[in-house]
Amino acid sequence: MTLFDKYGGVNTVITLINNFYSRVFVHPNLRRYFSDVDQEQLKYHQIQYVAYLLGKPLKVFPDGYVKNAHHRVEITAHSFDQVATIFREELMSMGVEMPDVDTVMGLIESHRKHVVTRA
Ligand code: HEM
Repeated sequence: MTLFDKYGGVNTVITLINNFYSRVFVHPNLRRYFSDVDQEQLKYHQIQYVAYLLGKPLKVFPDGYVKNAHHRVEITAHSFDQVATIFREELMSMGVEMPDVDTVMGLIESHRKHVVTRA
């Protein structure tokens, strides 16, 4: 069974993404990245992307998708760490078991080199 199915599918992913971005979009350091972004569209794409990461693609993403999405954004390692921490906390607050939290965070971490574009 995929992690997507194990934790309740579409409803769970939507709640996770809503809770995650409700913190990221108002975060004192992180909100600057999102001021000119269509936030609803970003959430919509992120729901699809996280479903894909959890093993149940609502849509299949090409190689280079995440790299292309960020190459103009100038994201620091510190900001990446803050985003990853919020994501981890939201997984935990939804009752995801620790081994599964670690699995998902490993997938998030594997994107670092494509997301961090600034020292
Ligand atoms: C593993 C970590 C991350 C993943 C998997 C991820 C995933 C994505 C995806 C799939 C998109 C494209 C959405 C679309 O096509 O509308 C996107 C866009 C974006 N991401 Fe990320 N992201 C990550 C980390 C971050 C971090 C750390 C930041 C900033 C602190 C960030 C800021 C943005 C911004 C501003 C956009 C919109 C870019 C634009 O529309 O020009 N992301 N992200």
